Amino acid sequence: MLEDTSFAIHPGQKKQVKNRNFNDIGKVIKFEQTANGATVQTESGDLKIVFYRADIVRFVLNPFGDTTLASSPALIAEPESVDFLAEDADEDILLQSAKLTVQIKKNPVRLTVSDQDGNVLIREAAKGMGYNHSNEVICFKEMDVADHFYGFGEKTGFLDKRGEKMTMWNTDVYAPHNPETDPLYQSIPYFMTLRNGSAHGLFFDNTFKTTFDFKTEKDGYSFGAEGGQIDYYVMSGPEPKDVLEQYTALTGRIPIPPKWAIGYHQSRYSYESEQEVRELANTFLEKGIPLDVIYLDIHYMNEYRVFTFDRARFPKPAQLVSDLKEKGIRVIPIVDPGVKEDPEYKIYQEGVQGGHFCKYIEGKIYLGDVWPGNSAFPDFTSSRVRKWWGEKHEFYTNLGIEGIWNDMNEPAVFNETKTMDLKVIHENEGDPKTHRELHNLYGLMMGKATYTGMKNQLEGLRPFLLTRAGFAGVQRYAAVWTGDNRSFWEHLQLSLPMVMNLGLSGIPFAGPDVGGFAHDSNGELLTRWTQVGAFTPYFRNHSAIGFARQEPWSFGEKYEKIIKKYIEIRYQWLPHLYSLFAEAHRSGTPVMRPLMFEYPHDANTYQLSDQFMVGDNVIVAPIMQPGIEHRAVYLPEGQWIDYWTGEEWAGEQHHLIKAELDVLPVFIKKGSLVVQGELKQTTEMKDEKLTVHLYYGDCTDYSFKLYQDDGISFDYENGKCLTKEMNVICQDGKVDLTITDRGKFQPDWKTVELVIHGVCDNISVSVNGIVKSAIKKNEQMFTFQL
Ligand code: GLC
Repeated sequence: MLEDTSFAIHPGQKKQVKNRNFNDIGKVIKFEQTANGATVQTESGDLKIVFYRADIVRFVLNPFGDTTLASSPALIAEPESVDFLAEDADEDILLQSAKLTVQIKKNPVRLTVSDQDGNVLIREAAKGMGYNHSNEVICFKEMDVADHFYGFGEKTGFLDKRGEKMTMWNTDVYAPHNPETDPLYQSIPYFMTLRNGSAHGLFFDNTFKTTFDFKTEKDGYSFGAEGGQIDYYVMSGPEPKDVLEQYTALTGRIPIPPKWAIGYHQSRYSYESEQEVRELANTFLEKGIPLDVIYLDIHYMNEYRVFTFDRARFPKPAQLVSDLKEKGIRVIPIVDPGVKEDPEYKIYQEGVQGGHFCKYIEGKIYLGDVWPGNSAFPDFTSSRVRKWWGEKHEFYTNLGIEGIWNDMNEPAVFNETKTMDLKVIHENEGDPKTHRELHNLYGLMMGKATYTGMKNQLEGLRPFLLTRAGFAGVQRYAAVWTGDNRSFWEHLQLSLPMVMNLGLSGIPFAGPDVGGFAHDSNGELLTRWTQVGAFTPYFRNHSAIGFARQEPWSFGEKYEKIIKKYIEIRYQWLPHLYSLFAEAHRSGTPVMRPLMFEYPHDANTYQLSDQFMVGDNVIVAPIMQPGIEHRAVYLPEGQWIDYWTGEEWAGEQHHLIKAELDVLPVFIKKGSLVVQGELKQTTEMKDEKLTVHLYYGDCTDYSFKLYQDDGISFDYENGKCLTKEMNVICQDGKVDLTITDRGKFQPDWKTVELVIHGVCDNISVSVNGIVKSAIKKNEQMFTFQL
């Protein structure tokens, strides 16, 4: 293709720059206080200001018609009743809640949002809100020299997006994901600003193609859309954790995943027959490599017709699923949205007859080319269609399947635009809109249909859904994998900031294809990538047709041994990780966190893209280059212990760390806890014994909430779960551990051991005030029975 050559930058190729010519919205004409805020009549329409909570305020303006308070399906929150003061002065209007102050300058309209201490969070200066005659809307804000920007969902590049310009338009990108590759599959029009250690958030609830520009202007940024209203929320923070809590109060949090979904997953495009799948499962079992899930990619279907099996390749799917489940392995099939155009195919017939497919306004069904050839696309904006699609999953649940993999749901179409005709109309519950407006919602709404359908049919069991595309709020239904990466070291590096920013965008359950999807992987890369995968929230090895196999044993024994060790470590860490997932469910806090999230006052963490935290006390600093056995590691405030050697490292410093191929550098903060279970083949095996590791060091207030429930049902919603809140005080050779049980659930484990690391002399340990004596002492470790 000529576009792939230098022809792309031929002088005659210069794309026409769109006439942006934004109009300012003018001045205030009238002010009116409302129950939750105010309506400010401007020269360009009504600006509505609504307090959702004292710490969350929404701004809405439609310059082209009536301003509506209707929201996108990203939103699950309704405004609470908030106490606030309103003052209408000559030059400005003030609205003040306990946490936020909104100042509206009257002529021209300029907004400033400040926190309770008067610190400005967001300010419009020379430029404010605008619109143009192509129905585009835009908001300009000041940018402080100290500002750093995070979130934006699934983006390439480094952690901090200052200096970047990003677009939200769900796109299937098989071409290599480069720093300049934008957009990708997800649209999360949200970000967090960190300024001098304090954070605030902004969510732009607009489903059109949106742009976030932190590049064009030196001291300002903007966000805008190709249509729709100006509609955004400001969240006050001030801690990064608070922003996540606030953002996920608006858009929802993850359900607690089934425990099996946080085990190790094996995939390939494709395991092509029942025989191959059985052999694969047996190899894992024979080699004793833990495994919870095997994926069926598109070859399981009859000519890629969803809700079918190719009976020649998969003659007895129910038997296969149940035989594997007996061994603790689940099967997850892929389900794409495209339904093959075939008048003899039941799903197509039902879709046409029920009016379930997306159509042109004139009534013709839209057909696009995907894996099955010409295909129709369910209109997931309609609850009727979602119900139909959800119920179709009976086909899978009847076979014993509990998880589904949604792919190509941007939706991807094999054509120049890569997606559906923008003129296609979506029903949208009686409020029809074009695909141009609702494109970014397709994956989210397919997720809603699939998750809800599976949940209904699984009668109390937790479904697991994996999705490629999504919009803000997708975390309510699905885990996200980051699409078609490649077996490049650069893609391993890139996956860290990408998954961290997904976590900061309310999506804590995410991960890349471990080993890389396209291109040929190799032993060293797969080993280093699996080490990282063991600590990333979603852990799946997946690779593409036509490239090297990359199951754990594919590159010989040397690598297999290390890969196995790290998959085992994942299983050992499950009680700890599962507790972090429960925390994400409770508060939106991500499982995998950038260091800035825990150390927002430490400027060394702001752009740290090659290290991450698991929870609040574990730092992982992987090796992500070939042939390298050393790297610089930054450790923030506190003292840190090398997980493997027990060696101590000082915080607020960079260190040169050695890590041979079998070592993933992991550091635990002194004075904190890690809880581990036993080595096991699958998550189905219960922990008889639990080990609480305490890394001795001065601390007065560390706490970890160990969470346990049955791991498979929704009974936790009715209180059948146990949270053991463990508070630690370590000082002067003394450890005081207080354990408070909350909730009712009989845990799996029969014994719990406390191992204290990092003390050579005697130590006095009390648990809930009772002094304990050690049952074992070796090297620098004391073991106690709890
Ligand atoms: C897409 C997916 C990939 C999958 C393939 C075949 O490329 O991103 O994961 O294996 O389609 O279904």
